[in-house]
Amino acid sequence: MSAPPTVLVVGGAGYIGSHMVWLLGQRGVNVVTLDDLSSGHADAVTSGRLERGDMADRALLDRIFSSQPVDAVMHFASFIQVGESVEQPARYYRNNVLRTLDLLDAMRAHGVKHFIFSSTAAVFGEPAYTPIDERHPQQPINPYGRTKWMVEQVLADYDRAYGLRSVCLRYFNAAGAHPDGLLGERHDPETHLIPLVLQAASGRRAGIKVFGQDYDTPDGTCIRDYIHVMDLAEAHWLALQRLLQGGASGVFNLGNGGGYSVQQVIDVARAHTGREIALEYAPRRPGDPARLVADATLARQELGWVPQYPDLATLVAHAWRWEQRCASASAPRT
Ligand code: UFG
Repeated sequence: MSAPPTVLVVGGAGYIGSHMVWLLGQRGVNVVTLDDLSSGHADAVTSGRLERGDMADRALLDRIFSSQPVDAVMHFASFIQVGESVEQPARYYRNNVLRTLDLLDAMRAHGVKHFIFSSTAAVFGEPAYTPIDERHPQQPINPYGRTKWMVEQVLADYDRAYGLRSVCLRYFNAAGAHPDGLLGERHDPETHLIPLVLQAASGRRAGIKVFGQDYDTPDGTCIRDYIHVMDLAEAHWLALQRLLQGGASGVFNLGNGGGYSVQQVIDVARAHTGREIALEYAPRRPGDPARLVADATLARQELGWVPQYPDLATLVAHAWRWEQRCASASAPRT
């Protein structure tokens, strides 16, 4: 029997990274998490060893890559807030691009040849058509999307020049939580719709603002393609198998291909939780396209990816289990 692979998960203490670390642990992979804990949580790392530090710290990377052969690196450590990226682009270019280049330099120096990168639907900008396939024009409309798009270009060049093979996974709207309530979303500040709606349901938040009711959609609110975090983790697993088996680099869109409106998300959350969720109808949020829906046919065909939790009600149920855990942990003790 061959030895289990070793995977370095950069950002493995964060939302999607921690679900990945859990899945890799379940599949018998030797996991090393590298996370500076600036937004991640040490207690979310449920498998392998946690190295606290910076992904651009060359001495630390040299030590990690020298201490055992690393078969692949998965990179989840990005800044992700679109609005913040517009106000503070330097932070975004430095963290999401320059520090990623430092990580790639260290990989090259140590002969690590496989890289799985968290990209985003934000590389497409305003959709010219939906559902969005991989050939859709890539014209990001904010610095966050541009940082991800730039790294995609870098990776294509590094494959040609250095033989570093990579898979870029373009997530649409990551959501949900571990089905058993072990892990979930803990951003601070939280900006994503589903956790905000559920925080309103649990009483941790007074209500929720609905950004725009005048979009060209059936109920006037924006449509997004919500994809379960465990389905994203599974796609990374399949991408890892592809690279370890000698497969070519690739870029894949990840979504369910359906899409739900903001109003539908709120309705499902009300029905599932049985709680009132106070709404405030607010103006459009700048930069929000009306409809973002993935065509993930390529991931199905080439990776064999089949989402297990495509249904919004299941996704909300899992996220609600997690929210209830967070709400009871943060409740004042009597
Ligand atoms: N929304 C509200 N109220 C809120 C929060 C969100 O109405 O309080 C709406 C947004 O306007 C949007 C939808 O809910 O229509 C989803 O918003 P999120 O902030 O949850 O997610 P985004 O679609 O803005 O962001 C996602 C990813 C980003 C990526 C972006 C690409 O999280 O990483 O898609 O456009 F950049």
